[in-house]
This record gives sequence, structure tokens and C-alpha cells, in this order.
Amino acid sequence: MLYSTALTALLALPGASAQLNKLAKAAGLLYFGSATDNGELSDRSYVNILSNTDEFGQLTPGNGQKWQYTEPSRGSFSYSSGDQIASLAASNGQLLRCHTLVWYSQLPSWVSSGSWNSQTLTSVVNTHISNVVGHYKGKCYAWDVVNEALNEDGTYRTNVFYNVLGDSYFALAFKAAAAADPNAKLYYNDYNIENPGSKQAGVVKIVKLVKAAGAKIDGVGMQAHLIVGSTPSQSAMQSYVGAGVTEVAYTELDIRLSSLPSSSSGLAQQANDYGTVTKACLAEKACIGITIWDYTDKYSWIPGVFPGQGDALIYDSNLNKKPAWTTVSSVLAAAATGGGGGTTTTRATTTTMVTSTTTQGGSNPTSCTVVQWGQCGGQGWSGCTVCAAGTTCQVGNPWYSQCL
Ligand code: G3I
Repeated sequence: MLYSTALTALLALPGASAQLNKLAKAAGLLYFGSATDNGELSDRSYVNILSNTDEFGQLTPGNGQKWQYTEPSRGSFSYSSGDQIASLAASNGQLLRCHTLVWYSQLPSWVSSGSWNSQTLTSVVNTHISNVVGHYKGKCYAWDVVNEALNEDGTYRTNVFYNVLGDSYFALAFKAAAAADPNAKLYYNDYNIENPGSKQAGVVKIVKLVKAAGAKIDGVGMQAHLIVGSTPSQSAMQSYVGAGVTEVAYTELDIRLSSLPSSSSGLAQQANDYGTVTKACLAEKACIGITIWDYTDKYSWIPGVFPGQGDALIYDSNLNKKPAWTTVSSVLAAAATGGGGGTTTTRATTTTMVTSTTTQGGSNPTSCTVVQWGQCGGQGWSGCTVCAAGTTCQVGNPWYSQCL
């Protein structure tokens, strides 16, 4: 019987109540994380879950590092909102994804409506980035350097940066960020780029453009604000790696129901979709992590922007886990233990040893054992259904049962 170090660590877990980050790491990812925002940090129950590093290994400030907050008037910098979340992540021992530097939205009017020429706006961008990235130097695993610069057809979005500087603003921003914190991973981040198409092709173009200008770009962030029923593909991720980035990540994942109240079948489909996204990341070696755009429906941005839609996260408004949580947990567990789950990943080379009798599939073999956390049943499951001693096969949802 041979166990990997990661599996041994998994087996030492006290319980299954908080485990997404722990399982994600055991499956070969760098983190499973969540966005958060300042107003929510007075909610003790919420913060307790957010701060549990077995559950979340990474935080992203949902607002506090945006231009509107960090440089509300020219040359006047404020870091109190961003610092609150950076400090929380540091005290919890969580990675920080920093968000975001150059974005047309939440941009103070002194920038968006200023009368600039290329020299003055270059100076404004350089000053902003060197100050903000400099302030957070050494604290950010990654920065979303440029955010949402593309229209749906893949052309460049018209904004003050593009209007004045043309496409040179991409390399300008990436160079300034690299100079201010050489160790931060630098990302282009956008939505609706999880599948091949015009916008995905636009991202490939940006990556190549930035690299051709001699600037560093490390990653592409796929926001993944999805609607139940939609699924991401691996080929988009592969196209970004092919263009020259070394990593990709799902950076703002949520999967909303288009009508409320949610039905049990809607929540089941949502669970399936969350599982599909998780599997897609696990199956691409360059995909380093998944961040959900806050973890609970209680604090989701969606109802405010899409009235009548929502319930997009993996915890409900009462901080109870939804079927989506169970499926994400199960998919990660299966990848971590080599116990199936549908991934085709080659990433988990250090985490795949289980026991000599555990199967990866087959036709419900009887001489087998599924280790703790592994899949033991569910619709379409043809693998082993016998749980290791001390664990029982528990139904998570119609598609997934797990040895717990
Ligand atoms: O801070 C003010 C507060 O003082 C005021 O009382 C309140 C009244 O509405 O508004 C507060 O500001 C809100 C801010 O969030 C902080 O809560 C803004 O109105 C609101 O528009 C803003 O929404 C944010 C949105 O970006 C703005 O574009 C969401 O929280 C945030 O989750 C969302 O995040 C974006 C990513 O940055 C980029 N990708 C898309 C994603 C979702 O839109």
C-alpha cells in the first residue's frame, strides 16, 4: 500500500466540512480561492469560513484595489480598503490575487474625462501603477494588470487608454507593473474568454502584442461569470499557453441561475457545471487555480446587476453548502486521490498513488477500496463502490457519492 504525501495529508484531515483548498492543492492546483469585499468583513460567520485555509487558500479584493479607491484624485493614493483584505489574507496565510490596475470601469472621472495626450496619459498610468504595485510589492501572488479591454467581437474596447495611447497601453501597463514588483505574476483578465471565439482570439492577440513589445505577461485570467448550462473548454486555455503565457486561472467564477427562485434541478445542473469548470482546470497543466467571485449568494454582485438572476455561488445566503460545493469537493477529491471523477489531467503526478486495490473505473468491481474523499457512486459511475474502513459512501448529489 503506497500513499503519496498529499494523500497522507488528506487522510489526516479532521473532517469534510472545509476542504476545497486542501483538496485543490492535493490535486496539483496552487489554490482554491474566493473574492471578498470590505463591507462583508463585519460578518463574523462569513469571515470564519472565508479565513479557513482548508477551504480557501487565496483571496481577491473585489473592489478595494481598483483605481477609484486607490487614486481617487490625481496623485492622492489611498490603500485602506485594499489593505484590509491584504492584511486578512496575510494573517490567515492565504495567497492574494490583486485586482486590478488598468480598467475602463470604476475609473475616477479625473482619468476617464481628462484631456490627455500620449505623454501625459503615459505618465498618469506609470505613476498609478508604480505607486499601487509598489505599495503591495511582495504581497500579491498575481496582479490583473489590464482588465476587460476587449469587445465581444475581439476588437479593442474604446476607453480613455485606447483612445489616447492605442494598443501601446497594454505593454506600457505590463512594463510598469513588472518594474514595480518583478515577482508578481502579471495577468490579462477578462470575461467570455473561456471558450474559443472572437474574444478569445483577441486575448491571444494581446498576449502576443505584450510579448512582442518586450514586456512580461505571465497569465490569462478567465473570469468565468457563467450562466447555468454553459461550459468552458480547454482549447481556450491551450490557446493562451500557445501564445506564450505560463499560467491560466479561473479568476472570478460564478454560475448564475437565470431565473429565481432556484429549483432543485437548477441547482443540480449548476453543481454539474461547477464540476465541469473544476475538471477543465484540473485537466490543463497551466491552470493554477480557481477563484470564485465571493463564495456565498449572500454577497454576490449578480442580483444588483442582473435583477431576477443569481444564486450563483457554492454557499447559499445562509452560508450553507449547496450541491455545487459538494460536486467541486468531490471532483477535487477524485483528482487528488486518483479515484476517478472524469478528469483527464496529467498534472497530478505527485498525488495519484492510492492503494493497490483502488480502481479508476471499470464495472463496479468488488475487490476494490475507495479511499477517503474518493468517488464511490453516482449516476453513470461504474467504478468501485466499496469505501475504505472507517468511511462510508455518502450521497453528495445525484451524480456524486463520496467516501467520507
Ligand atoms: O462603496 C460604495 C458605497 O459607499 C455605497 O454606499 C454603495 C451604494 O450602492 O456603493 C458602493 O460601491 C459599490 C461597490 O461595488 C462596492 O460595494 C458600487 O456601487 C458597485 O457598483 C460595485 O460593484 C462592483 C462591480 O465590480 C463594479 O463594476 C462589485 O462589487 C464587484 O464584485 C464587481 O467586480 C467585477 C470585477 O471587478 C471585474 N469583472 C466583473 C466583476 C463583476 O461585475
